[in-house]
Amino acid sequence: MQLMFAWLEITVTTDSVNAEQVHGLLDTLGCLGTAQVWKLEPDSGEQQVTTQLVGYLPATEDVTEKLIWLQEQIDYALAHGWLFKPVTVTTRILESEEWEGPLREVLPPLLIGDKFLITLTDSEVDNPENRIVLRLRSLGGFGTGHHPTTKMCLEFLEKAMVAVDREVESHQTKGRRVLDVGTGSGILAIAAAKLGAKEVIATDIDDAALEAAKENAKRNEVEGKIKFVKSDLLRQVKGQFDIVLSNLLTPLIKDLAWQLKSREVLTQDSLWIASGVSSEGWKEVKPLLAKLGYRIIDECELAGWVAFKAELC
Ligand SMILES: C[S@@+](CC[C@H](N)C(=O)[O-])C[C@H]1O[C@@H](n2cnc3c(N)ncnc32)[C@H](O)[C@@H]1O
Repeated sequence: MQLMFAWLEITVTTDSVNAEQVHGLLDTLGCLGTAQVWKLEPDSGEQQVTTQLVGYLPATEDVTEKLIWLQEQIDYALAHGWLFKPVTVTTRILESEEWEGPLREVLPPLLIGDKFLITLTDSEVDNPENRIVLRLRSLGGFGTGHHPTTKMCLEFLEKAMVAVDREVESHQTKGRRVLDVGTGSGILAIAAAKLGAKEVIATDIDDAALEAAKENAKRNEVEGKIKFVKSDLLRQVKGQFDIVLSNLLTPLIKDLAWQLKSREVLTQDSLWIASGVSSEGWKEVKPLLAKLGYRIIDECELAGWVAFKAELC
């Protein structure tokens, strides 16, 4: 089962005098990469210019409330003469295959946590804070960082001791061994490699995701550190890991909790960072984790999703 993540394309068609205000409303709504298109339309023999403002909004659970808010703002502004008719709003869900096109070009670089800067193109990015740049041009798999579940994982990951030395058979090796279950675009695996992990195993059940993740790893010059494995959860995974990352849906997180324990993938010092549990599902997952012998170290909730950090008791 895959977590579907779509973008909503919002088009506001209006008179060009309204353009700046509508642009402001789309920005406040949380739209990314708002673009403006002028259209010449024949009107009773004369040519009239209309403007289309197009914004892209991650179609998260609260998207309906956001669209209602937009319509209310427009109605209020029209009633008070701050906007002039016509103003019409249309929306369209963009499927993931459409991401490869114009959407990628208009989405601005994204800052996550204190350390990451994500860009969906290969172009140079302004990076005055000298952040770790994650280049994710290949979008065959989920994971641009715009979804709250990915964002929360990255925020937990940047604070984990990824680069710290570990002892293997009585000698020190640099960096931790990391497992990323359900790698999608490779975003978490690449982030772990760039943070200084010694070795990363990244799995996915989906061939297209693995292909995209491999391309992204090359693009980020960490292909030597990440091994990609096609696997249904832990089926093809061997060994123990210091850090396990998993942004999956609630039922898969429950299965994974069981598999991590029964296959002894975690040691007493390992950290499990998980995300993708719905707020509703968390009421069921949290007690299950306690029953299986996990201790929740930290948890956070964003836009109806929960991420957590856990270790074995
Ligand atoms: C929500 S995406 C997460 C992508 C990325 N890790 C991120 O954090 O943005 C979940 C990924 O898990 C993969 N997946 C779904 N079921 C799986 C399973 N049983 N075993 C391994 N991967 C699975 C999907 O193909 C998808 O790429």
